[in-house]
Amino acid sequence: MAELPFEPFRIKMVEPISMTTRAQREEIIGRARYSLFRVRSEEIVIDLFTDSGTGTMSSAAWSALLQGDEAYAGASSWFRFESTVKELFGFEHVIPVHQGRAGERILLGQLVQPGQIVPNNTHFDTTRANIEVRGGQAVDLPSAAGTTTEHEAPFKGDMDVEGLRRLLGEHGRDAIPLVMLTVTNNAGGGQPVSMANIRQVSAVAREHGVPLYLDACRFAENAWFIKMREEGYADRSIAQIAREMFALVDGCTMSAKKDGISNIGGFVCTNDASLRERCLVDLLVTEGFPTYGGLAGRDLEAIAVGLREAVDDDYLRHRVGQVAYLADRLHESGIPVLRPPGGHAVYVDARRFLPHVPPPQFPAQALCVELYIEAGVRASEIGTVMYGFDHVTGQERPTDKDLMRLALPRRTYTASHLDYVATALSRVWARRQSIRGLRIVAAAPILRHFSAEFEWVGA
Ligand code: F0G
Repeated sequence: MAELPFEPFRIKMVEPISMTTRAQREEIIGRARYSLFRVRSEEIVIDLFTDSGTGTMSSAAWSALLQGDEAYAGASSWFRFESTVKELFGFEHVIPVHQGRAGERILLGQLVQPGQIVPNNTHFDTTRANIEVRGGQAVDLPSAAGTTTEHEAPFKGDMDVEGLRRLLGEHGRDAIPLVMLTVTNNAGGGQPVSMANIRQVSAVAREHGVPLYLDACRFAENAWFIKMREEGYADRSIAQIAREMFALVDGCTMSAKKDGISNIGGFVCTNDASLRERCLVDLLVTEGFPTYGGLAGRDLEAIAVGLREAVDDDYLRHRVGQVAYLADRLHESGIPVLRPPGGHAVYVDARRFLPHVPPPQFPAQALCVELYIEAGVRASEIGTVMYGFDHVTGQERPTDKDLMRLALPRRTYTASHLDYVATALSRVWARRQSIRGLRIVAAAPILRHFSAEFEWVGA
């Protein structure tokens, strides 16, 4: 059982949580057509929908905001931001964007042609969508360990290196414009990728002359797991480990809403000067001038502070400790959670929680709805709603998992909030046999989880 995670901060500012009754929540979720995207924030008790942009900034980050230089070009905030990113990430060029997916769009827009294939350990939904809207094919190559939820392994986020070698051998560099590796592997359970795996993937990609980019959203959490679990890294700093990860690749996309501990922002890094020039044209047309890229000067300041805080040992011990604490409490109650716990979220295996609800009836979505009704906790679905529709063929496609993700915003909730969540989910677990599945009554074809409306099966 993980220890109670010590909060390495004092709380200086609070935001009230509005409480609701079960009857109110039943009415709210029905009105929202069983989509948690349509529930208002004040109708939520504990919001574990995402860890993206919802974390708590430090007093240092808030005071940096006041130094924001809002000049259109050449703002001092840009230079502080750029030098921080270069120091921590080590790449030659930094392109600022308003959030991660804008960086994906700009990078993949330059690299991917219709019919081409982009492998990843597991693509996150926006990365997959940014490839598919260009007519590309997003291929997931998780390691064998990563496809199970029960099996304990230290680096379940790893890529299947042999699978990558085969894919590159079969299709060659003309069909595969880049390889990506997501650290930590969010859709695969927030699981880390080992340095050894990054090194192997890098070697295979280089052998074939194909660039390798990290989706670096949670790079600091990934580095923490390397420090804790991989031989030879215990005495290295998180910043040193991160630099070693980045030195093995050609660039990255980054959402500063995660390990930048900021409310908004992101960037693309590359060592390829000509690619940078091409990206800047798109940036100018869509995001803004290259010294702010869709961000205010104050955002650049906050990110520069947040990135440094994210590589701090005490911060990461608490962060990963919170996830382990919640996961262990659930595991002890018999609730099937993905093991071992990942870096930013607890993933509940909805197929094992609700074995009587088949995947086409969206067990993880049904579980999210029930947890909301039980206690006002908002979780997100990562399963058949998110990934189960192929917009090219217009057909449903099977997915390998149905997970309910409880994502912990950074430095936002205390251990007693986590206890509240664990108790709530235990109550849902006790009445699991009575839980029904859902069917979709309306949804957009791309990224359908954002728009889907549901009704209960048998209603
Ligand atoms: N890549 C990964 C691995 C992500 O987790 C996300 C966002 C993105 C890219 C896109 O970044 O939101 O700044 O545009 N993940 C959030 C989540 C939304 O809840 O996991 P963005």
